[in-house]
Amino acid sequence: MISADPDEPLHVLDLPQIHTKPSGTDILRTLDLLAIKPRSFSSSAHEAVKRPAVQPAGVTRYLTSFISSSLSWLDTDELREAVWDAAAARLSERSGRTAMPAMSRVFTIPSPLGEELTLTLHEPSLTADNLGMKTWVSSYLLARRLHTLLESTPQLIPPALNTSKPDRSLRALELGAGTGLVGLSFAAIKDTSASIHLTDLPEIVPNLSHNAALNVELLTKTGTAVTTGVLDWSVPPAPLPTQAEQYDLILAADPLYSPKHPAWLVDTITHWLSRSLDARVVFEMPLRDAYLPQRQELRQRLGQLGLAVVEEGEETGYDDWETADGGALAVRCWWSVWGWSEKL
Ligand SMILES: C[S@@+](CC[C@H](N)C(=O)[O-])C[C@H]1O[C@@H](n2cnc3c(N)ncnc32)[C@H](O)[C@@H]1O
Repeated sequence: MISADPDEPLHVLDLPQIHTKPSGTDILRTLDLLAIKPRSFSSSAHEAVKRPAVQPAGVTRYLTSFISSSLSWLDTDELREAVWDAAAARLSERSGRTAMPAMSRVFTIPSPLGEELTLTLHEPSLTADNLGMKTWVSSYLLARRLHTLLESTPQLIPPALNTSKPDRSLRALELGAGTGLVGLSFAAIKDTSASIHLTDLPEIVPNLSHNAALNVELLTKTGTAVTTGVLDWSVPPAPLPTQAEQYDLILAADPLYSPKHPAWLVDTITHWLSRSLDARVVFEMPLRDAYLPQRQELRQRLGQLGLAVVEEGEETGYDDWETADGGALAVRCWWSVWGWSEKL
């Protein structure tokens, strides 16, 4: 079978060819070798799986040769089905992330105590208009940044120590939570006396709730209450929230990709953000050129509302919106923490 230096990419002709009638085991092992795994988003993104890579030229035709063969030399129907399924999966992976099947992904998030916490998130197979079914790079970066925000933002101090509102626990809201990485990470690292409500569009919320349930063991360790629900930015809440219903902290990762989003987001923040001294909004989003006008509009509208940047910066992450050659796609992202300007 194949044995190769992992640093030397194989040529497709080095793989078992169909005319040689390879065994089912050899075919399945080879098809496994051709699997494209989702990236981890880690900044050491190049922690690509150590396996002999295969040069992309000819791989599609190679996979199709198995799908179109009757595989008559294999012993059982089960084996034939397994080969056809694996070859079809490898072809689908080569059609890009949108064609990938449902998957579970594991994310590691640092806690303020220096521990690494592990969250598992289910990502259903993608459809073009359901962007919340996948985890995006800025949510990974923001989730990993949360522990430093906990240290640098007075808002995130446990309420018992925060004299400005001793009577109630910190209420956090995530907008456009998608698969829930940011909000669930917040719940996993925040100590007690906090709650977080993860929200998104109706079609996204069932998977969001599923992901909260998947991580229940980790979440019960901190005691932070996690709820999920629909919150559509384009629909003003009726009736308007009372002061007690407003949130001390609003989180949003990658929420800006339509000309309507800046206005909708700022309206939503207007309704839901507490006017208290320490209230904060935290954003992280990719610096996509196409959405520069939306980012400028967002800044302008937040300023008009009376919010100002407390802290901001840029960082690079690695997305998995990738093609078959396995190269990492570096994405520059902007993070920002906003507070009421007259109270800063
Ligand atoms: C690019 S995804 C980011 C998801 C997640 N925050 C992440 O970074 O992995 C944008 C999210 O915004 C949500 N969204 C878009 N328009 C929305 C709206 N009008 N109201 C609420 N959520 C919306 C989408 O459903 C999607 O989950």
